[in-house]
Amino acid sequence: MADGEVFLMTGELSGTGQEPLDKVDPTVPHSARIWNYWLGGKDNYEIDRMVGDKVAQLNPRIREQARVSRALQSRVIEYLTAEAGIRQFLDIGTGLPTANNTHEVAQRIAPESRIVYVDNDPLVLVHARELLTSSTEGASDYVDADLRDSDRIMSEAARTLDFTQPIALMLNGIIGHVEDDDQARECVRRLVNCLPSGSYLAMSDGTDTDETAVHSSEVYKNNGAAPYHLRRPGVFVSFFDGLELVEPGIVAREDWRPDVAALPAAAAGRLPGLAGVARKP
Ligand SMILES: C[S@@+](CC[C@H](N)C(=O)[O-])C[C@H]1O[C@@H](n2cnc3c(N)ncnc32)[C@H](O)[C@@H]1O
Repeated sequence: MADGEVFLMTGELSGTGQEPLDKVDPTVPHSARIWNYWLGGKDNYEIDRMVGDKVAQLNPRIREQARVSRALQSRVIEYLTAEAGIRQFLDIGTGLPTANNTHEVAQRIAPESRIVYVDNDPLVLVHARELLTSSTEGASDYVDADLRDSDRIMSEAARTLDFTQPIALMLNGIIGHVEDDDQARECVRRLVNCLPSGSYLAMSDGTDTDETAVHSSEVYKNNGAAPYHLRRPGVFVSFFDGLELVEPGIVAREDWRPDVAALPAAAAGRLPGLAGVARKP
């Protein structure tokens, strides 16, 4: 199965599922699988659990951070669908399927919503079928591609998304995988440039504002996982340059249009991270 292959919801996944499985290396820890472990999922290997546990020993709130991120993502999709009227989503750095995948949250409100998922992890590709359970009125597709390859992402996404209509670009917990600040900014800029006026950028990420989190991200990297670069808050803010932030602006993930579920995290102090949603004029 070639990189960049797209799975269309209306068809079956091609192949037997064996080809992408051959690309999965169970001896190297992977971001999607460690994230799945912290979220309480079962789609991970011994090496992912070992690194996940090492990080969690140093940074005991890391599992809470994963849950807070997922809860934020649902609130953002609800806002975009119910209040901003968005019906198309491009979710890059999807992660392994879990509760409240993007199409499930959006289609609960607007069944006609169309979603394209993008990730570059071979195990996410193996499980992609679970992301393709769209409503009949809408559609969901999966593209196996790298975040940096905006040309491929957009050409594959165009099979499902109408680029004359607004699209919400979701970048949750992924941009830290691009280490250099300028490259990361360029990457986001290129993706946003491909979207029509009235589209949205929804982003969240960890920040370097907590010593424990910074130290544990070093341990994560030193144990063989692809490095995750925690950024200064000012750099995170700069990803939204030229866009119109919606209320409440760029805030801690727990504070972005919070619901009751966010209260326990708030009581324990804010987690080191930020979130924002902005409209492309
Ligand atoms: C921390 S997980 C976040 C998952 C999900 N967005 C969430 O918030 O729950 C990061 C995801 O980004 C994916 N990823 C990392 N680097 C990537 C890249 N260069 N291109 C595409 N996906 C990437 C990983 O495979 C993983 O699934």
